[in-house]
Amino acid sequence: MDKKVYLISGGSSGIGLTIVNDLVSAGHGVVSISRSESKIARALREMPHLEGKAEFITSNISSEPDLSAVYRHILDKYGVVHGLVNNAGILTKGTIETISTDDWRYTLDVNLTGPYILTRAMLPLLKKADGASIVNISSVAGLKPGTSVAYSVSKAGLDMLTRFLAGDLGPYNIRVNSVNPGLVRTPIHLDNRVVEDRDAYEAMLEKARPRYPIGRIGNPGDISGLVVFLLSDKASWITGSIITADGGVMVENDLIPPK
Ligand SMILES: NC(=O)c1ccc[n+]([C@@H]2O[C@H](COP(=O)([O-])OP(=O)(O)OC[C@H]3O[C@@H](n4cnc5c(N)ncnc54)[C@H](OP(=O)(O)O)[C@@H]3O)[C@@H](O)[C@H]2O)c1
Repeated sequence: MDKKVYLISGGSSGIGLTIVNDLVSAGHGVVSISRSESKIARALREMPHLEGKAEFITSNISSEPDLSAVYRHILDKYGVVHGLVNNAGILTKGTIETISTDDWRYTLDVNLTGPYILTRAMLPLLKKADGASIVNISSVAGLKPGTSVAYSVSKAGLDMLTRFLAGDLGPYNIRVNSVNPGLVRTPIHLDNRVVEDRDAYEAMLEKARPRYPIGRIGNPGDISGLVVFLLSDKASWITGSIITADGGVMVENDLIPPK
């Protein structure tokens, strides 16, 4: 594969960090944007070989001034973006009766408006690639109501953004696809305090596991392989697709008790 330049939002943790690692291993230039220095430091403790190999920039995908600065930086340093992974996301919990308006707005702001304004900010650089690929990291919770109304609605909106942009950006030879993971072991639940502690997290995973026909919860590598494929020219006729990577949880048969 030729050396390309990829921008990953939320590359300092979980699924995004594994995507960064896999792209660096394949010899590509990788820029990650995320908010906190502490998660970048944690990522580099976990994967010290990435130091100096991937660029970890602090930037908030909900802030247009931040994204303008990222645009100028990439324009000056690389001049092009071959692929964008809208991976950064947050998790909130609650139903219409329990979630605050602030948490609802925050979820939509990061998970839906963030990918929208980040994609728009990077369009001039993506157009220069002649064959760019955008991958939106959505969720099975966007396809079926989950446990958080704001999170499910944000991801359903992201899937429609995928389909809409596939139509709008196809004429520029820019492909846009969603990857919708099932439950994947990452720091997201603990970092966003949707479970109290590690014991509660492990209990949540154990409770969920029987609903996965493959018999295990996902790991970030289960998602990254598909993302790297969609970024590559091997996927050059795939656009507007909503693709689950979920250990089969979406085919759960509610009529038969789990084995
Ligand atoms: N893990 C799962 O079970 C699962 C299942 C389905 C879908 N997903 C989706 O997969 C994606 C990655 O999730 P993950 O589990 O890997 O989460 P994670 O480990 O919590 O990582 C999230 C990343 O996004 C960054 N981020 C959050 N808000 C941001 C903002 N406003 N601007 C820039 N960066 C931001 C975080 O860094 P900072 O906080 O420092 O900004 C972090 O680098 C998310 O979109 C999530 O919804 C996850």
